[in-house]
Parts: sequence; C-alpha cells; structure tokens
Amino acid sequence: MNDIVLLKGDGIGPEITNEVVKILDAVGANLNYHEFDIGQTAYDKYKELIPSDTMDAIKKYKVALKGPVTTPVGKGFRSVNVSLRLAFDLYVNFRPAKSIEGISKYQNVDIVTIRENTEDLYIGEEKEIDGGFEAIKRITKASSERIIRYAFEYAKNNGRKKITCIHKANILKKTDGLFLSLFNEIAKNYPNIEADNKIIDNMCMQLVMYPENYDMLVAPNLYGDIISDLIAGLVGGLGLVSGANIGKEVSIFEAVHGSAPDIAGMGIANPIALLNAACMMLIHIGKKDIANKINMAVDKTLKSKKVLTKDLGGNASGEEFTNEIINNM
Ligand code: NAI
Repeated sequence: MNDIVLLKGDGIGPEITNEVVKILDAVGANLNYHEFDIGQTAYDKYKELIPSDTMDAIKKYKVALKGPVTTPVGKGFRSVNVSLRLAFDLYVNFRPAKSIEGISKYQNVDIVTIRENTEDLYIGEEKEIDGGFEAIKRITKASSERIIRYAFEYAKNNGRKKITCIHKANILKKTDGLFLSLFNEIAKNYPNIEADNKIIDNMCMQLVMYPENYDMLVAPNLYGDIISDLIAGLVGGLGLVSGANIGKEVSIFEAVHGSAPDIAGMGIANPIALLNAACMMLIHIGKKDIANKINMAVDKTLKSKKVLTKDLGGNASGEEFTNEIINNM
C-alpha cells in the first residue's frame, strides 16, 4: 500500500476528489490516503491556509493528490499553490495535453508543456511607486537551467523530438534574454532534439493555427501558465488536463483548472482532470499498469459519448460520469 496525502481543496475540489477516490478504489490502486485540510477549509477550521500538520504530512509522505484551491483576486493572501510550490521547491510544472477523438476541437495536439514553477512574477514582490505599483519578474540562471535541463532530459527519455522555448526576449532582454540564451546553450548538449523558440504572442497564434507543429514547450512561469490553459482549450477544456508539480523530494499532482466557484456544489464538475493527475501520480509511484487501466476506461467513456459531463457537451453529473468510467474498467 502506498501512502498518499489527499488534499481536497475547496470549490469543486471536494466533489471531484471524492469521485476520483471512488475510481482509484474501484480499480484497486491500493492507496493509503492521509487526508488533510488546505486553503479555505483549513482557514475556516484553524485560521491557517496551510496548517503545519498538512505541511508535515506532505514532507513525510512526499506524494500528494490535491484538489483546486481558491485564491482571492486582487486582494487577500498569497496563492496556496504558489506557497506549496515554493515551500517544497517543486520546480517543475509538467502539463501534458493530447487530443481526444470526437471530444477535442483539434485532432492533432500532443504537447507536453514544462513550466518553471518557482519564480518569474509569481514571487509576488509588488511594491508601491508614484502613482501605482510595480512587480518584480525574477529569472535566475540556476532555476532556468534546471527547468530547461529537465525538459531536454524528459524529451530524451520519452522519445520527444522538438522543444520550443517560449519567451519575450525582444522586450525583456535581460530576464527572458537569459532564459533563451540558457536554452540555446543547453540545447547544444542534445543534438538529436530540435531546439526552437517563439515569442509568446506569436506562439499563441501558432498554437491555435498549427498545433501539430509543436511537441514540447518550455517556458518561464507566467507564459507556461497561460499557454497551458490555451492548449487545454484545444483539446477539450479545463475539465480534462492535469499537471504535476515535481521537486527533488516531494511531488504534488493536481488538475490544471481552479476551484470553479461558478459550478461548485452543483455536482456537474468533470473529475477527469484530477483523475489524469492521479494517473500521473500512479506512474510516479510505480503503478503504471493501474494508470493504464484507468486511462483505457476514460478513453472508452469519452469515445462512446453516452455519458458526458456538461463541459464535454453532455448532461451527466460528475457521479454518473464516474460510474460510467468504473463500468468501463
Ligand atoms: P477555473 O479553472 O476554476 O474555472 C474556469 C472555467 O472552467 C469555469 O467556467 C469553470 O466552471 C470551468 N471548469 C474548471 N474546472 C472544471 C471542471 N472540472 N469541470 C467542468 N468545468 C470546469 O478558473 P477561475 O474561475 O479563473 O478560478 C477560480 C479560482 O481557482 C481562483 O481563485 C483561482 O485562483 C483558483 N485556481 C486554483 C488553481 C489550483 O488550485 N491549482 C489553478 C487555477 C486557478
């Protein structure tokens, strides 16, 4: 049995996490869940967003499956997600996205985005200046090198052929300029992998028009965040895509989407994004066969189109969708 920290989060977090746990139990994943509070639910109970018990459990068990957590816009506390990524130095945000026949708007997408996860504008250093505010964008050599190396190593070990570095080095000559020059430098050690780069604005257009030209992307934090939502849209929306936050010691698996307050509590949230995150987690802990079994059941469910949640064009509840996936296993 593997020990897993389970963080249900808030908004749609608890409902999708419960559905995912049902599927993991039905497939016989044999996981020992240690459930802890995080975000608003933790704050309501303990007046802390990430209680020390939660931190200790993540430190101890090293693998967590996490539902989304709400972050107030324009006010309030720092994002819980950002805090976790910094606290455990989860420097890689790994976000794969692949077209699904009959579901995705685009049938030719198979892209892995590797997003730097610890710096850029996400360090949250904003200060008042005359007549407004300014924010610091931090790009360091050490953090850029390790994420770029991770991308090339992943490509080498997983048969990927091309990596596109995303930047705005025409304007941000020092920060993005450094990221791009390190990319070009490191690429020289991987002659079998094509190294390409695109300015972020052009990249958005290219992805919408010619997604088939892209294999892997590596990007500083903010561009990686935005571009992975764009790619989510190409393959069928946020209800489908997931991400892994990977560090040297700890890894936290989650959906790309947020807490979806507009549909929270309605029972219509799609659990697949978090389920895909759980599959990445299963692979991470050496249970690839179980992950494959779930992936096959999800594929079958999506292809048959008999039972789909609203975001995928159906009218099933999250629970009905889960039951259909379990029936297809
Ligand atoms: P969101 O990703 O929560 O929702 C965007 C749209 O996608 C909404 O219309 C929502 O209903 C839909 N959607 C998202 N997940 C879905 C699912 N599983 N099934 C069906 N439809 C789904 O983004 P939004 O509304 O901008 O952010 C809400 C909150 O989530 C914010 O506080 C934000 O900071 C937080 N957030 C948390 C993340 C995390 O915990 N990793 C990641 C992104 C945002």
